[in-house]
Amino acid sequence: MRVAVYPGSFDPITNGHLDIIRRASKLYDRLIVGVLNNMNKKPMFTAEERKRLIDEVTEDIPNVTCDVFSGLLVDFAKNNGATVIVKGLRTVADFEYEFQMALLNKALNPEFETMFLMTDTKYSYISSSMVKEVAKYNGELNGLVPQQVISKIKEKM
Ligand code: PNS
Repeated sequence: MRVAVYPGSFDPITNGHLDIIRRASKLYDRLIVGVLNNMNKKPMFTAEERKRLIDEVTEDIPNVTCDVFSGLLVDFAKNNGATVIVKGLRTVADFEYEFQMALLNKALNPEFETMFLMTDTKYSYISSSMVKEVAKYNGELNGLVPQQVISKIKEKM
């Protein structure tokens, strides 16, 4: 059974993330979305809230589950029986950072491969930080994040 992990902060999950999840779920038997509980950042949503939103928007994809993790990604992947780390690439600006993380993860545990999926062009400009920026100034969020996320952002603001 091929198990992959798709890690990230997902604060909040965007339509770009969801597109990567849908596409990756077709490539592996099981896809685990790993939500990083990063103590150094001050997120808009708690890790549990982020997980709940991901559970809601992926409920129609049977082989996708979501879990919160802290610590090293390679440990989370290993503990869940995954052999692949899935990452999305939007523009060349993402490449340097993602390449460094892939090499570091390989150095930490050579058993893992990082697989990159190119974002669909229609999502290439979307990021969680941009979504929060637009939300802060009451901008239009339709098309950037799923409807469930829009409602939760409105509750927060
Ligand atoms: O959505 P993000 O914030 O770009 O995701 C970054 C993430 C969660 C993939 C990365 O920070 C991560 O894997 N953190 C876990 C700690 C770790 O394993 N660090 C070493 C590899 S970067």
